[in-house]
Amino acid sequence: MPHPNPDTADLIAAATSVRENAHAPYSKFKVGAAIRTADGSVYVGCNVENVAYPEGTCAEAGAIAAMCAAGARDIAAVAVIADSPLPVSPCGGCRQKLAEFSKGDVPVTLTTTDGAVQETTVAALLPGAFDQDYMSRV
Ligand code: THU
Repeated sequence: MPHPNPDTADLIAAATSVRENAHAPYSKFKVGAAIRTADGSVYVGCNVENVAYPEGTCAEAGAIAAMCAAGARDIAAVAVIADSPLPVSPCGGCRQKLAEFSKGDVPVTLTTTDGAVQETTVAALLPGAFDQDYMSRV
């Protein structure tokens, strides 16, 4: 069934497409992520694993890197997709990475390849986020 919001459906489609390019020979768990910025641009990323396991990178990190490489900095919306039993939950590190570029209430759509959808926000994913306010004495 199509997602009710066409913008979100586009973002899920972009995440679904880039997921095919994931390099996940070790976990076999392919993930796709798509970020939209305020001007409507969409940046995508997939997980890229490495035989030296800690060197692997998440899909969200790839999408953030693509956004920054294009000179953009402000995330307006995010979608993440995986073949998981429940809508895929971004890891703690990716929550912090998303928070770095998310001002206000940025919607995050977490999905599965069989169509389950969970709507949340970057702020809801990372309560008590470390931010620059904590560095005000520096
Ligand atoms: N992974 C992501 O890319 N994003 C997520 O939100 C969850 C986990 C990747 C990391 C690793 O390549 C694989 O999924 C299994 O943890």
